[in-house]
Amino acid sequence: MSFEFTIQNLKFKIAKAAVFAACLTPLYCLAYFAFTDNLGANPIEVITHWTGDATIIFLLITLAVTPLRKTTGWNDAVKFRRLLGLFAFFYACLHFMTYVWLDQFFDFRGIVKDVAKRPFITVGFASFILLIPLALTSTAAMVRRLGKRWQQLHRLVYFAAAGGVIHYWWLVKKDIRWPLAFGVVLALLLAFRAAVRWSARQPSRPFAAAAEKQ
Ligand code: HEM
Repeated sequence: MSFEFTIQNLKFKIAKAAVFAACLTPLYCLAYFAFTDNLGANPIEVITHWTGDATIIFLLITLAVTPLRKTTGWNDAVKFRRLLGLFAFFYACLHFMTYVWLDQFFDFRGIVKDVAKRPFITVGFASFILLIPLALTSTAAMVRRLGKRWQQLHRLVYFAAAGGVIHYWWLVKKDIRWPLAFGVVLALLLAFRAAVRWSARQPSRPFAAAAEKQ
């Protein structure tokens, strides 16, 4: 192992630890609010909103990694994608557990009824279910084992993010600015992906190299 390789490795480990610590920011904030008694009159609502926002934001950041890599040539960005995706799942679990535990007190009959009755809960639940196989197959061993099918499976993340945006859109009463903003970001990310695929099929293939790496 060369000295240069060891330094590179160490730098990457430090960067990864820094990204990991940064990804915990929503959790630090919630813990700070809780310890300083600043969760307001309805703490469950605040926790639900913070964890829901963190889930959709991390899903969009994860989806932005490939466009960022292709537009800037910063190939190392892809090394952080799995970590970011797992944080999206982590916040989705916290969001779901807030609902199951603090909101519904493990009343599973009530939960089933709620999922069937309220469309925004139905869509949120479906998005959460879609994230489970993605988290379970995120290991390097599963990437190798599934081969091309891994990429096909992981396209589900677009559906999970779209479901998250619809879930948010349907739950807001009047002010649609935030779900609209998240929807626009998701649409741009999808448009980028479509443009890369379309250009790969053109005879001149201007983005062919980028598309092949997809
Ligand atoms: C990928 C999955 C999901 C995403 C991305 C997501 C995202 C969000 C977002 C962004 C909010 C609004 C936060 C705000 O107002 O600032 C929210 C609220 C909420 N979510 Fe989710 N969510 C997901 C799954 C779920 C699931 C599985 C449930 C329960 C079964 C759920 C129940 C709720 C509830 C009860 C609210 C608050 C509604 C209200 O204020 O009346 N979500 N979610």
